[in-house]
Amino acid sequence: MIEAGKLVRDLQTMRDEGHLSDALMRYAVRTLSTSDDRFSWVGVYLLDEAGSELWLHNYVGSPTEHAKIPVGTGVCGRAVAEKSNLNVPDVSKEENYLTCSPDVQSELVVLIRAGDEIYGQIDLDSEDTGAFTDEDEEALQAVADKLAEQLAAERR
Ligand code: SME
Repeated sequence: MIEAGKLVRDLQTMRDEGHLSDALMRYAVRTLSTSDDRFSWVGVYLLDEAGSELWLHNYVGSPTEHAKIPVGTGVCGRAVAEKSNLNVPDVSKEENYLTCSPDVQSELVVLIRAGDEIYGQIDLDSEDTGAFTDEDEEALQAVADKLAEQLAAERR
């Protein structure tokens, strides 16, 4: 189970101290990556200004060739196109899927958004099938919402 409460509080403290979204997104990824053995890869993708591609901001895990992902492509791109979080319990059954590492079995994408405005996403992979629960999604949404608050403040 992810301890999102402390992470969200830490992110708010960083905001209060004047840290920018770049620092917050790196801290969130680093913290999440060590928070649970189920997570083999954790990263943040940001939507480009045109709203057509996701760009990898930072990650912990195996190197990936998917530094840029068109909206609509893969699980990541589909989450943006559908404006919805995606919990994929078995990636081998997914037709629209981009392989990061052959060991990955399940994936969770949680959008960083303020209403209809999508800034990006937190992407998690696991080497276990069906690794992610509704509680994980809820916890990650709280983290994503805090990142969205800072991103929105910087774009005003
Ligand atoms: N599996 C993702 C691609 C990102 S990597 O896992 C890091 C997808 O299908 O969009």
